[in-house]
Amino acid sequence: MKRTKIVVTDYIEPDLDWERAELANAPVTFEAYQLKFAPRQELLTRLADADVLVVNMVRVDRDLLQNLPSCKLIIRHGVGYDNVDVAAATEHGIQVCYVPDYCREEVAEQAMMLLLLCRRKFTRQQESLEVSIRKGQWDFSSVTPIRRFSGTKAGIVGCGRIGSLVLGMLRGFGIEVMVHDPYLSQRRQDELGIRCQPLEAVLREADMVTIHPTLSHETHYMIGERELRMMKPTAILVNTARGAIVQAEALARACREGWIAGAGIDVFEKEPPDESFVLRGIPNIILTPHLAWYSEDAGLSIRQKIMEDIRRFLEGRPPRFPINTIDAKR
Ligand SMILES: NC(=O)c1ccc[n+]([C@@H]2O[C@H](COP(=O)([O-])OP(=O)(O)OC[C@H]3O[C@@H](n4cnc5c(N)ncnc54)[C@H](O)[C@@H]3O)[C@@H](O)[C@H]2O)c1
Repeated sequence: MKRTKIVVTDYIEPDLDWERAELANAPVTFEAYQLKFAPRQELLTRLADADVLVVNMVRVDRDLLQNLPSCKLIIRHGVGYDNVDVAAATEHGIQVCYVPDYCREEVAEQAMMLLLLCRRKFTRQQESLEVSIRKGQWDFSSVTPIRRFSGTKAGIVGCGRIGSLVLGMLRGFGIEVMVHDPYLSQRRQDELGIRCQPLEAVLREADMVTIHPTLSHETHYMIGERELRMMKPTAILVNTARGAIVQAEALARACREGWIAGAGIDVFEKEPPDESFVLRGIPNIILTPHLAWYSEDAGLSIRQKIMEDIRRFLEGRPPRFPINTIDAKR
């Protein structure tokens, strides 16, 4: 019987020894490459008879898919999957799945970190220490006023896996939370103890707004000048979801001109951003390098979840998070 061939097209781990050990007794051939910048011909040769692909950054387009006659499953290593032509995969009867749940704690923690850093004016506190050292006496003038974090009101836009975790964390700080999520079922709202509200109400009333929807035609630029002007001048905005949900030019103006008090941003429309990126160098904006997903624990978690999908495939079971629907009769 032909052994199932699993090919990793590219990976970010130092090595895949753990995966090899996990599959040592399974009826599989396991091959791993770094094909992100490989010429097309090499990709075609390496992947030609693969049954399962584990893909990180390699572009799996229609042309490549046409040349993968054995392929039945593509596992995208991560949350997004825009490098895989899902429509073409479906036409070729190839199941595509992904791993959207390996780093929800990390992203929620990063959102909390940015909320706290902005509210507690972290960068200004650092400046204040330097000024005070130079003067030989405390000078807090660039920092004040700071308002207490607990007891304020937060707005969560998008209350899925990550947003709902942030909800619990904020409540732990004694913060009242408003939620905007047009797709949250009544049952889920009951479970979370919330009543979803219109975006405008959340923006107008919250002292801080944290953004957690997926990027779609609906959420693309959902926060622009109009929305930022609705927010309180003392409010802050945090985005750890996707760069294109917030219009960067409008946010730069909002923070420079005091429509809002500041922002914490982990994600960008172009990644990494250019040197001339409009949000750089604005004192009340904290930027982080799209690293909310990262921790060593999340790194282990994604490997375990991908391994689970490989095992499910070997047992003839569907993946944990399928992206497309494949006609079972094929
Ligand atoms: N910064 C990072 O490193 C990092 C890592 C992982 C995920 N993310 C991003 O975090 C975001 C949330 O991920 P998740 O796993 O919680 O997704 P999810 O699918 O579990 O939740 C998304 C929520 O957004 C809601 N939503 C959809 N359209 C909306 C709209 N128009 N307005 C308000 N809410 C809307 C959905 O109903 C859903 O509840 C995604 O954008 C994801 O790409 C970022």
